[in-house]
Amino acid sequence: MSVMSEFLQPMLELARRALANAHAPYSRFRVGACVRGDSGRLYAGCNVENAAYPVTQCAEAGAIGALVAAGDKRIVEVVIVTERPEPCPPCGRCRQQLAEFAVPDMRIHLCGPEGVRITTTLVELLPMAFGQ
Ligand code: THU
Repeated sequence: MSVMSEFLQPMLELARRALANAHAPYSRFRVGACVRGDSGRLYAGCNVENAAYPVTQCAEAGAIGALVAAGDKRIVEVVIVTERPEPCPPCGRCRQQLAEFAVPDMRIHLCGPEGVRITTTLVELLPMAFGQ
């Protein structure tokens, strides 16, 4: 899939900046995310780890929280940036959290520092999702 929006570059930039601030001293796996609300506003997040390992918050969760706090209701596009060579799809918990606010055809771009590696959709990553 190669559907690119005009928002992609700004989303990538915000996700990269968030990644640079990730608190990942335990896994050393930094993640940056940016979600776009249907208002057009962009929200970024990074992973925030904790000495008590399970307390860790994923990058996507931070971005979703910021979107909800700002009053947006729907997510239309997602960018996830990691630094390893292989693309990093969102974890199962993040997929379910995204599903709560996703528009039906919501695109998810899996990116490296250089740009988009894979573009997919939530439906592809989370078929037969549990919902309301
Ligand atoms: N991580 C995310 O931020 N998002 C995901 O979808 C997968 C995993 C983070 C959590 C943890 O800080 C690190 O990546 C390694 O699992």
